[in-house]
Amino acid sequence: MKRMLSGIQPTGNLHLGNYLGALKRFVELQDEAECFYCVVDLHALTVPRDPDELREKTLEVATLYLAAGLDPKKATLFVQSHVRAHTEAGWLLQCVARMGELNRMTQFKEKSQGSDGVVVGLYTYPVLQAADIVLYQADAVPVGEDQKQHLELARDLAERFNNRYGKVLTLPEPLIGKIGARIMGLDNPVKKMSKSAGSEANYIALLDEPDVIVKKIKRAVTDSENCIAYDPESKPGISNLLVIYSLITGQTIEETVQHFEGKGYGQLKKEVAEAVVEHLTPIRERYHELRQSGEVERVLAEGAEKASAIADETLARMKEAMGLVPPF
Ligand code: TYM
Repeated sequence: MKRMLSGIQPTGNLHLGNYLGALKRFVELQDEAECFYCVVDLHALTVPRDPDELREKTLEVATLYLAAGLDPKKATLFVQSHVRAHTEAGWLLQCVARMGELNRMTQFKEKSQGSDGVVVGLYTYPVLQAADIVLYQADAVPVGEDQKQHLELARDLAERFNNRYGKVLTLPEPLIGKIGARIMGLDNPVKKMSKSAGSEANYIALLDEPDVIVKKIKRAVTDSENCIAYDPESKPGISNLLVIYSLITGQTIEETVQHFEGKGYGQLKKEVAEAVVEHLTPIRERYHELRQSGEVERVLAEGAEKASAIADETLARMKEAMGLVPPF
């Protein structure tokens, strides 16, 4: 059975892009692979955060994992900082990674632009991500398209480690969906939907109330043609809505385009909004039930224990291969 690992940062509001590009796929994969999913709270520290908010968001994401359908009997769910091996393996891989390759990371370049207070952790962020992955000997990593470069780095680091120290680490493959790997912003469909977008009109949060979802989709930027066609280049707004509808309803893009043939943009927006509301309502309701129940904390405690057992074993092998003397 293949092994998967992935993670989501507990920052901002989890949105439809995170859901369609990652979380919904995490749920699908739990039936066919051995899955490890973490809330990457250490990664969230790379940008200044209010500590109370970080704690709150970490539990929020973990609760959304469960509310979206992840089953702790099938998948191991944990908080990254609860498994100490991540920071340790992160250091070991920092001694394998090269400045040149980190300098090429486009996310670092984007996030550090115009800021003079960038912390070192933002720069070494992809190395910690590589540690997250290799510790579980993951064969594949389900992510959205924006993580592709980080995954290439993880694979390069694992390969270099093995070449230098002997075969210890599995080389991971990115698992990027054919559609939905880059859900675009509703207010600006040439840029990806993002947790850190300036305006709430950019995204649909998984916990948005139905009337908010309807309003945001109604206001989504489209074009002036009033002709429904799938063409991400020349009709990014309409194509984005078609992708959302298609993934939410389980239809192909072709079926979706056919379904909307001859209809106007108003009707498209109405039906997309209905489909999204119908899909997210049970998730939102489960979320609010679970948050009160104490179940999330139990799941995370058990998950950390299971994850640590595997991560510690890989970490010990990495250290031994690198020449570190084991504790006496
Ligand atoms: P993060 O928290 O930014 O995003 C979580 C997941 O959501 C995907 N995603 C999207 N997919 C489609 N359309 C979008 N607009 C969109 N926006 C985000 C992301 O690709 C991601 O899969 N560095 C990672 C977290 C991480 C990680 C890991 C992932 C840390 N360690 C190990 C995989 C394996 C991040 O910041 O994701």
